[in-house]
Amino acid sequence: MIIEEGKSLKNYNTFGIDASAKYFIEINSVEEFSQLQEEKIYKDHDKFILGGGSNVLLTQNFNGLVIKNKIPGIEVGDYSTTDAVVKAGAGVVWHELVLWAIGRNLGGIENLSLIPGLVGASPMQNIGAYGVEIKDCFEQLEAIHLQTGERVVFKAADCKFGYRESVFKNKLKSNFLISSVSLRLIKTDAPGVNYRFKTDYGDIKTILAEQNIFELSVKAVSDAVIRIRSSKLPDPRVIGNAGSFFKNPIVSQAKFESLAAVYPIMPSYAQADGNFKIPAGWLIEQCGWKGKVIGNTGSHAKQSLVLVNYGNATGNEIRSLASEIQQSVMEKFGIEIVAEVNIL
Ligand code: FAD
Ligand code: EPU
Repeated sequence: MIIEEGKSLKNYNTFGIDASAKYFIEINSVEEFSQLQEEKIYKDHDKFILGGGSNVLLTQNFNGLVIKNKIPGIEVGDYSTTDAVVKAGAGVVWHELVLWAIGRNLGGIENLSLIPGLVGASPMQNIGAYGVEIKDCFEQLEAIHLQTGERVVFKAADCKFGYRESVFKNKLKSNFLISSVSLRLIKTDAPGVNYRFKTDYGDIKTILAEQNIFELSVKAVSDAVIRIRSSKLPDPRVIGNAGSFFKNPIVSQAKFESLAAVYPIMPSYAQADGNFKIPAGWLIEQCGWKGKVIGNTGSHAKQSLVLVNYGNATGNEIRSLASEIQQSVMEKFGIEIVAEVNIL
């Protein structure tokens, strides 16, 4: 068991922030984690579970133990004629799981292609994109309590999934290490299965039509999603970022109507409960932030919701920019936008 000291986290977060961890360890199995829980360093320090670091903003050095999850493995548990329950280790790269599913014509996560990060973090904020959220095919997850070591299975209802939300981001924040996630995927090519692809969101249909693809497949939908994403989201290997910095705000019908009267072109998504989701990217762009560079940071030129590190930004510089943006959206629209990114 190798516990490193004074470890730089610069290569472990997609913002590329140069903060450090007092102690750092990689764990490759549940057994290794159980052993770690017996160590004095573990018992004496605060813990932070790190996946791919694609949804964190480090604003200071972490004066505790960072546990980098590397638990591997993809296996099929329950296989029927129509679907398969696929269990993936928390350390599996999310997009590798998507590619694994595509290779077997298993449907359910193709719209979630190319989301950075690891499987273990996927239930944390109920990852979502292009009309699909992980909750739609979620079966269960296994987790280990950070204090007691108790192993607990969480079913979908226990996770309290919402838009970019789960119990792990709220009531049970920092209580568990998620060690595996199981998803129920559909055998799209099995006889009698009439799989319904989700192609309504954004430009998916347009891209498929441009390519003369009329027979849908998980691969075709995944490729279309990858094309859209690559055209507007900056690659963290080139420009540091954590995807959408803020969540899209949800407002009441009355608030929506008062805004729509002033801004008839404002995009919006009606919610089942009568409220409206407004794209934060649009609000931020209207406030004049899109493409603006402020020192080492800025709001991206193709997607204003993505805050970026142009080189040597500190976490606090990015946090200050985020606060200024929040303030101006509040002043112009009277809407509070809240961070999606986990700020440490
Ligand atoms: P990390 O950033 O390492 O961790 C995030 C949080 O989860 C932290 O609080 C951490 O402590 C906790 N955590 C991580 N692993 C575990 C574990 N095993 N057990 C317990 N807690 C854990 N998200 C979307 O939903 N949709 C998108 O379309 C999307 N697009 C993105 C595009 C880009 C370019 C980038 C950079 C990010 C994007 N994201 C998107 C955000 C991000 O990829 C997801 O939130 C992803 O699930 C984070 O995974 P991670 O492994 O990097 O988590
Ligand atoms: N828009 C603007 N200006 C901008 C950005 C967006 O006007 O600078 C408008 C677009 O024109 C469009 C609307 O806002 O009408 C929505 O834009 P987009 O489709 O790019 O999606 P988003 O709402 O900005 C959300 C998720 C993304 C996810 C995409 C696709 C959140 C916070 N973000 O972005 O998730 O990939 O939809 O489903 O819900 C992430 O969570 O990190 C993330 C990237």
